[in-house]
Amino acid sequence: MRVETNGPEETYELGRRLGEKAKAGQIYCLNGDLGVGKTVFTQGFAKGLGIGEPVNSPTFTIVQEYDEGRLPLYHFDVYRIGDISEMDEIGYDDYFFGEGVCLIEWSCLIREILPEHVIEIEIKKDPERGFDYRSVEVEEK
Ligand SMILES: Nc1ncnc2c1ncn2[C@@H]1O[C@H](COP(=O)(O)OP(=O)(O)O)[C@@H](O)[C@H]1O
Ligand SMILES: [Mg+2]
Repeated sequence: MRVETNGPEETYELGRRLGEKAKAGQIYCLNGDLGVGKTVFTQGFAKGLGIGEPVNSPTFTIVQEYDEGRLPLYHFDVYRIGDISEMDEIGYDDYFFGEGVCLIEWSCLIREILPEHVIEIEIKKDPERGFDYRSVEVEEK
């Protein structure tokens, strides 16, 4: 599935719809350049799961857990990861194979430890289509 959005509220809305349908054990892999809208998507996704508290990219930790929704949300942003061993240190497999839903910004940086079945979301800009245009590709693997 590919969706074109023309502003942050539309990407948020797409995230919200997918969050409403998310199931325990799923891993959503979010990729795309800095500032493309991964966190905007995540905020909508969290809303769709019933999470009311504000969701931002975890700055000092790799993962942030939100427990107030329909399912726990484990929000990773691995942009600043130095070495894959940092994922072992946080006990990543408890999250990947846990009760909740994982959403991983910059999952391309930890490709070697990702399970086979994930949902890939790639967000892209196209300068010819304007500043607020994004193409959001959702592919279940
Ligand atoms: N169609 C769109 N979808 C998502 N964000 C958009 C869109 N158009 C403009 N933006 C802006 O792009 C920025 C995306 O920021 P953010 O979600 O933090 O990016 P990332 O997490 O990918 O680094 C926000 O300032 C948002 O307002
Ligand atoms: Mg982000």
